[in-house]
Amino acid sequence: MRTTLHIAFIWNVVLLLLISGVGAAHASSIAILGAFDEEVTILEAQLVAPSAHTIEGIQFLTGTLNGQNVVIARTGVGKVNAAMTATLLIEHFRPNRVIFTGVAGGLNPGLQIGDIVIAEKTAQHDLGRMESTEIENTGVRNPINGQRNPVFFPADPDLMQIVDTALEGIELTPFQTAQGQRHPRITKGTVVTGDVFVASDAKKTALHKNLDGDAVEMEGAAVAQICWQHNIPCLVIRSLSDNANAYASEDFQKYYEIAARNSAALVTHIVSQFHSAQSVQPDTTINQEQQNLPLSPQQKGLTPDEQRFQEMLSDVTLVGHFTVIGIEDSGTLREEKYTIKKVTKMSNNYWLFFARVQYGRRDVTVPLQLEVKWAGDTPIITLTDLELPNLGTYTARVLIYRGQYAGTWSNNRVGGHLFGTITKNTDESENPNSQQE
Ligand code: ADE
Repeated sequence: MRTTLHIAFIWNVVLLLLISGVGAAHASSIAILGAFDEEVTILEAQLVAPSAHTIEGIQFLTGTLNGQNVVIARTGVGKVNAAMTATLLIEHFRPNRVIFTGVAGGLNPGLQIGDIVIAEKTAQHDLGRMESTEIENTGVRNPINGQRNPVFFPADPDLMQIVDTALEGIELTPFQTAQGQRHPRITKGTVVTGDVFVASDAKKTALHKNLDGDAVEMEGAAVAQICWQHNIPCLVIRSLSDNANAYASEDFQKYYEIAARNSAALVTHIVSQFHSAQSVQPDTTINQEQQNLPLSPQQKGLTPDEQRFQEMLSDVTLVGHFTVIGIEDSGTLREEKYTIKKVTKMSNNYWLFFARVQYGRRDVTVPLQLEVKWAGDTPIITLTDLELPNLGTYTARVLIYRGQYAGTWSNNRVGGHLFGTITKNTDESENPNSQQE
């Protein structure tokens, strides 16, 4: 019994720590971006329960599309506008996927106006080094972590898989061409992005030859870079409004509306394949700078995932259960409730957790140094044979994801599972007496 209590206590502590981890309680929404009206209005018109949020003059429309929570915005034309809107959106809405929809100029001679290119990869064709007439494309350093970005940002593999399913049975509006009616072909390929409308045979040929580009546009790779730097899955879909050649301006005027509509129709179809539904609202808990709260120098050195982890662990309560396998009533779920005051990153993967443990009559704040490993965007609190004075040696793996935690624990004699939810404390919820008053 005494041992069980000790285990419970340890686990409470660990859980607290674990709890601290999660950063993404507000995620689970799909962001859809397009550069101009025709690329997004058709999607906005389909929103159920639309709600407008204006941030820095940019309108973000939230609601549900085919049963999925989405946030839709126009970026404006060009890489800088696209990056600005993508950043605002990520900062305020924390989407867990970003899709860019719109039109493009065709580069691949095998494609025709009206065809759709789903970007397997995107690159900025005007980013790099130029010594004579040719640009040598290079990636720039990600200012968040100092690592060099790739020239080509790959599409998220899970999103590509969803696309494969979505392509079955999709109906798009046929194009009327000089040769008659033509059904758009959907293909996967390379989309290249630059701050110029390409209406030149020479440039078109060069982009196809040098970067293996299938389509050229002015926003996709900029949004892909922002997503890459924030670890958010991204997909760029483009429908060809022109062939980026000498006739491009003329063709663009003729075909951009129908091309934009077809790209949006494909996005609507893809969105229906997602299986999540969580309300999406601006995230008011995360943006410290907006609330004029100074970021500590240490915070500034954190990656976005680490910052979210830290912010989400500040003043939270985790409520959960744990099991103890190897004792008589091992099937019993034991209730635990913990409050985490804050977590601070130390060196390497280690974090200091300040956890308030309320267990029976115990009420203590315990500073504990724990290792947090990352599986992509998911923090995993990791203890391997960690000796806790007077309590024994413990091993645990607890992952935190979207306001929940779950994991395994063991000591040298027994072990079990643990799981629960993480919620932000309000003044009221933090006061242990408030509920009784
Ligand atoms: N968007 C549509 N057509 C385009 C082109 N030819 N060049 C750049 N962006 C485009």
